[in-house]
Amino acid sequence: MDKMTLNYPQAPLRGTISVPGDKSISHRAVMFGGMAKGRTTVSGFLPGEDCLRTIECFRLLGAEISRDGTDLVIDSPGIDGWQEPADILYTGNSGTTTRLMLGILAGSRVHSVLAGDESIARRPMKRVTDPLRRMGADIRGRDGAQYTPISILGGPLSPIDYEMPVASAQVKSAILFGAMRADGTSVIREKEVSRDHTERMMRNFGMQVRTEDGVITLQGGQELVPVHVDVPGDISSAAFFLAASAMVPDSEVVLKNVGLNPTRTGMIDVLEAMGADFAVDVSDSEDSELRGTVTVRSTSLKGTEIGGDLIPRLIDEIPVIALLATQAEGTTVIRDAAELRVKETDRIAAVAEELGKLGADITPTDDGLIINGPTKLTGAVLDSRGDHRIGMMAAVAALVADGPVELQGPGCIAISYPEFFVHLDSLRGE
Ligand code: S3P
Repeated sequence: MDKMTLNYPQAPLRGTISVPGDKSISHRAVMFGGMAKGRTTVSGFLPGEDCLRTIECFRLLGAEISRDGTDLVIDSPGIDGWQEPADILYTGNSGTTTRLMLGILAGSRVHSVLAGDESIARRPMKRVTDPLRRMGADIRGRDGAQYTPISILGGPLSPIDYEMPVASAQVKSAILFGAMRADGTSVIREKEVSRDHTERMMRNFGMQVRTEDGVITLQGGQELVPVHVDVPGDISSAAFFLAASAMVPDSEVVLKNVGLNPTRTGMIDVLEAMGADFAVDVSDSEDSELRGTVTVRSTSLKGTEIGGDLIPRLIDEIPVIALLATQAEGTTVIRDAAELRVKETDRIAAVAEELGKLGADITPTDDGLIINGPTKLTGAVLDSRGDHRIGMMAAVAALVADGPVELQGPGCIAISYPEFFVHLDSLRGE
């Protein structure tokens, strides 16, 4: 296994970085471009491993996709012109690719098989396959289509009226993709609003979608019109440097091109609640996805409570928020976050165990974490467990540890942030 020794003497972080493309929006740009007939162009695409898997899936379905760095040109025959893939659609480590493709393929005209890595094989798929089957999808898979590999025979679908049992944009999006192809009007009801990139991109591609008080209404059979998509930077990637700059003494970091969609900005609310010194400057743009510059300076922090409808707005940031809480005065309580148990790893256990190795005072609960701070962290041997966000949390922890951190398995960080160490080194003045 790959490993790295992170020996960061207590130096401040200073400088400006431009945050890499948003992972959720990059996946969706390829998906919409692959479904729409004609040419879609994308700028600001994230060339992380997960999003590259999505590109490969659409190539196998017959879309021509060329990539030049973060620019894409997608020429597609459209969903009704797809070819039957000659191989399995391999989704790697990507839950978004796997779950959203299920919804897309269910209403296509091709037969396909989806499979990913050993983490994907453990992740629950019934939350997607159940509602799609209710819409008439022909889906078979391991353990009653609970787990990959899953085979999908695309065909006609009926509309659905569905109350979301979990706050999940992946589930919502898979159903919306099915609903796009259904014969009639579908309604999806969310108790807590999850990220809405799919709904926004549907509108960009010329569709009409109504969203009101957590109720989404979509008429099936609408055509997609290809457009240009400019992907903003990923606040979930920026989060590692937002946290680092807030807690490493004497730091000041400027993060440009940060996506500021309100369904994603829970981390900003947490920085505010913890008393961080930061400024958000929203860019003046007509784009459906807000973006801007965030500047963070280090200061003393205090513990906070995080739960309820804030959780879907920062679900991927919880590992680094837990680390931040180890440096804050007082107790931080994270609750209502049981979804973390079914991410790339069980992130409640992974965060508690890995930060625990550094001497953090952290206790896992069924649905969250309790952290008491501040604690001077020590060096230790940490394991990413193949989870990119655990790997980046460990690297940021090394900035406040008083000894070297040996990180086992840093390679997975390329899943969402290939330039992570380049940015970290530039902010450290290396
Ligand atoms: C995502 C939704 C979230 C998030 C994941 C990306 C998306 O997952 O954790 O990293 O792009 O729709 P859930 O839908 O499972 O909450």
